[in-house]
Amino acid sequence: MQGNFSYYNPTKLYFGDESLNYLKEELMNFGPVVMLNYGSGSVKRNGIYDQVVAILREAGKTIVENPGVMSNPTLEKLHEGVKIARENDVDLILSLGGGSVCDYSKGVAASAGYDGDYWNQFWLQQQNPAQEQKILPIGCILTMAGTGSEMNGGSVITDAEHKLKVGRVFDNRLMPKFSILNPKFTMTVPDNQMKAGIYDIMNHIMEQYFSDTDDNTSDYLSEGLMRGLIVASRKAVENPQDYEARSNIMWTATWALNTLIGLGKHQDWMVHMIGHSVGAWTHAPHGYALAAVSMAYYRRAMQPGLQKFVRFAKNVWNIDGGGMTDEQIAQAGLDALKAWMMEIGLPLTISELGATKDMLPGITAGTICYPAGYLDLKPEDITEILAESM
Ligand code: NZQ
Ligand code: ZN
Repeated sequence: MQGNFSYYNPTKLYFGDESLNYLKEELMNFGPVVMLNYGSGSVKRNGIYDQVVAILREAGKTIVENPGVMSNPTLEKLHEGVKIARENDVDLILSLGGGSVCDYSKGVAASAGYDGDYWNQFWLQQQNPAQEQKILPIGCILTMAGTGSEMNGGSVITDAEHKLKVGRVFDNRLMPKFSILNPKFTMTVPDNQMKAGIYDIMNHIMEQYFSDTDDNTSDYLSEGLMRGLIVASRKAVENPQDYEARSNIMWTATWALNTLIGLGKHQDWMVHMIGHSVGAWTHAPHGYALAAVSMAYYRRAMQPGLQKFVRFAKNVWNIDGGGMTDEQIAQAGLDALKAWMMEIGLPLTISELGATKDMLPGITAGTICYPAGYLDLKPEDITEILAESM
């Protein structure tokens, strides 16, 4: 393991079907005004909202509601939330929903105390808030597994007007102070979103795994997480009410992107860069956009990263490899990945997500390119990958 790193993760987790019981105790650590961010209504339909509001009332909190945080939250909605947080002198932002609501809450928490153009400063310029800037604390009650937002500083916001989806990773101050992970809450997630979440998790691991050539403990952790996810995904697709499978998926999601398995690694993230731009143009669920461009991307990365792809085939997909060349083994690993994606019902083309040929220049222009993983892609390569993904 060759990299240098420090590791600190300040998010306190509560996991399991009784985890909401700890909310009241956590609320005692914060002031009286709680901004409650949630999405388009699923938490009202499945009863989680009522449970949370009852606890907030018992704890004597003043609730400032901010509903309607959409999937792939927009800059326009961020402006609304910042205004609400400022006007109500909020003490805590409570995020009730999936990664979108959690990402959005971080956006509000960072921006409410910033006097300038926060979109430009924090997303386009990728700056962190100054040390003296006030940052609102966040708590997260997660209802969907996938992004890892519950234990990281990531915040992805879409400027819908300019079709620009920009992710950034804030420093530790923007990580949730606590996150409550009840796998039962994920049982009502629609089938397509559950599958999108599963692939998002898989791809987070792959984005970190497919880089470097040294022997790194992080890669062994990644292989274990991928193996577990494949088992749990099959069970959850067959029976979405399988608590054990859903809880394993939820826990894997957190560890896939709470920075642990990226330690000492250069990492890749180009599938995410392309996927974000596809998402900005098609509004596809995040994990679907990733799935649809993955095969074309990894086919290119295979040769320059051959030994890691061989390892992926053997250690994740149990390819025996006897009598095969390295290329054949690596290819068999990619074939196994594709077969699993088809088995669980993921899209393999961007056309399925509504992308058309005339969008390709725009999607390419919206893709942030940099040397990453085993490749150094230029815009013309992105266009080719997109064309191969049609
Ligand atoms: O709007 P609501 O009612 O909340 O419905 C949501 C939404 O329609 C629904 N849902 C969530 N929990 C549910 C439920 N429906 C029924 N029952 C439940 N228990 O599912 C839909 C999708 O939710 P969303 O939060 O959008 O999904 P996800 O968790 O996949 O978050 C996606 C966003 O996170 C960003 C993505 O780009 C995207 O904007 N990402 C954040 C990352 C991070 N913070 O590190 C990394 C990721 O790579 C990703 O980019
Ligand atoms: Zn992702």
